[in-house]
Amino acid sequence: MNLLFIGDIVGEPGRRAVRQLLPGLRSKFALDLVIANGENSAGGSGITVNTANEIFAAGVDIMTTGDHLWDQKEVTILLQTEARFLRPLNYPAGVMGQGSTVCHSENHPPVGVLNLQGRTFMPPLENPFLCGKTEVEHLRKITKIIFVDMHAEATSEKIALARMLDGRVSAVVGTHTHVQTADEQIFPGGTAYLSDAGFTGPHDSVLGREIEPIIERFRSNTPQKFDVAKGRILLQGAVIEIDEATGRALNIRRVSEPLAENA
Ligand SMILES: [Fe+2]
Ligand SMILES: [Fe+2]
Repeated sequence: MNLLFIGDIVGEPGRRAVRQLLPGLRSKFALDLVIANGENSAGGSGITVNTANEIFAAGVDIMTTGDHLWDQKEVTILLQTEARFLRPLNYPAGVMGQGSTVCHSENHPPVGVLNLQGRTFMPPLENPFLCGKTEVEHLRKITKIIFVDMHAEATSEKIALARMLDGRVSAVVGTHTHVQTADEQIFPGGTAYLSDAGFTGPHDSVLGREIEPIIERFRSNTPQKFDVAKGRILLQGAVIEIDEATGRALNIRRVSEPLAENA
């Protein structure tokens, strides 16, 4: 089976890219399942019910998130009612929402999806290595096909987590830095890996935001308003081919698909 993972969708340009480019990618790669990180989909910060629904309607099956989860108040509605919506698993016990799910469909075996968040240069959640390993073993009682979104800043933390899970999950792909890395590979145990999927939105920017206010923030150390940028929209992520019988990854390729200027 073929799975597309879409890196952080940033604002309206990011949602437009998913809407307009996903149908073409679906036929080009014969996609069976689409997972997307939506943590920046509402104006670049957080996610609302409407933006989530727009992304699901565009063909995304499961949505993951990260440290921008709480930026929009109404995310609590999604956390409490939306079965296709994940938050990082490693919040303390009792926090609303879910960190993993199993996606069932008629055309392919069940697919487990797990969302974790790193702790290096990030808010201190529970240990993703301990929570993640336990959750993967729990998911493997249902299916061998498991995808992990590791939302983290440090490449060492992402690689270490993926190496720990090698042979136990089909793929670990990182998000959060918004910069697509070129280290896609399949580890010896059969786990596909990419340190960061990149982001889906305007790349004539600093990580999706207008350039000048960010320069001014760094130059002057004063707060600035960071609007979502406009130009050079790309849909970024990775397509992973998975052996349905074993759960092993057969292939991983990066995606960086431009949206036509007038789209
Ligand atoms: Fe992000
Ligand atoms: Fe993030």
